[in-house]
Amino acid sequence: MKQLLVVLVLAGVCRGQSRLAPYYCAKGNLMTAVDACMKYPQSINLSNLHLYTQQSVKSGTVDPVCNMASARVFIFSGTKDTVVVPGVVKKLEEYYRAYVAAPGAIATVYDIPAHHGFPTDRYGGACGSPNSDYINNCNYNAAYELLEHIYGGLQKPPTSHVAQGQLTLFDQAEFFKLAPAPTYGMDTAGYVYVPPPCHIGARCRLHIAFHGCLQQRGILADRYAKTTGYNEVADLNNLIILYPQAKKTLTNPNGCWDWWGYSSYAYATKNGYQVTGVHRMIRRVLGTY
Ligand SMILES: *[C@@H]1O[C@H](CO)[C@@H](O)[C@H](O)[C@H]1NC(C)=O
Repeated sequence: MKQLLVVLVLAGVCRGQSRLAPYYCAKGNLMTAVDACMKYPQSINLSNLHLYTQQSVKSGTVDPVCNMASARVFIFSGTKDTVVVPGVVKKLEEYYRAYVAAPGAIATVYDIPAHHGFPTDRYGGACGSPNSDYINNCNYNAAYELLEHIYGGLQKPPTSHVAQGQLTLFDQAEFFKLAPAPTYGMDTAGYVYVPPPCHIGARCRLHIAFHGCLQQRGILADRYAKTTGYNEVADLNNLIILYPQAKKTLTNPNGCWDWWGYSSYAYATKNGYQVTGVHRMIRRVLGTY
């Protein structure tokens, strides 16, 4: 469910991000999240979300929107997705178009007959059918396509390429200071993939891959981190892939990242527990935390 594709970072500078519904779509309300923001795009009022965005900038709870002007955004929605319908994702595109300036900076893929899930060219269930891993074999390497759109100039791994690097489980607990990680819907451990050249001192970039609902470690173990195709692209292009992990709790039964407010009222701000925790992980990889 609710596949959040990526947020990525280059030397600490945020270059692009994507999600499914527009920013603050749920407005702190679970019912709005599962209703308008998954199924009924006609009830998403974008003016309202733009207004909220502007107010948040003014009050300092989010950074200035001009930071999005140079972002690269990749948006995918399968024609057979009945979990988050394509209309909702098109609202997300419309939201981004208000802020992302350069022509071609927003890539959209709406024509693949994929059901809800992460599309790959080698793993997963049938492309157009639901499966419990939410990883679909669509003869389409989404990990490569999105990374290539965002960074450019990447080598595409052949389907025969087997990942050569190390997928390591790391302690997430230390990045959540005020209360234990599960209090904020976070697992105590996450995954990081480091390709061989990055182990021996090559200059590498860091990409963060957020799993979707029901794809967290507690359910899929390492399958999201192993079979979505990121690691194979990472091998050939000196990318480190960080896979932070959410956790199922009473208020977050599907192990989603917080997009309706279960972790705190500040969930959609830069003071949100999850984003600040992930920011500390980024700084750790960069050697500044
Ligand atoms: C949409 O939001 C704007 C800004 O908050 C508001 O003025 C307008 O009345 C809303 N439209 C609808 C149809 O609710």
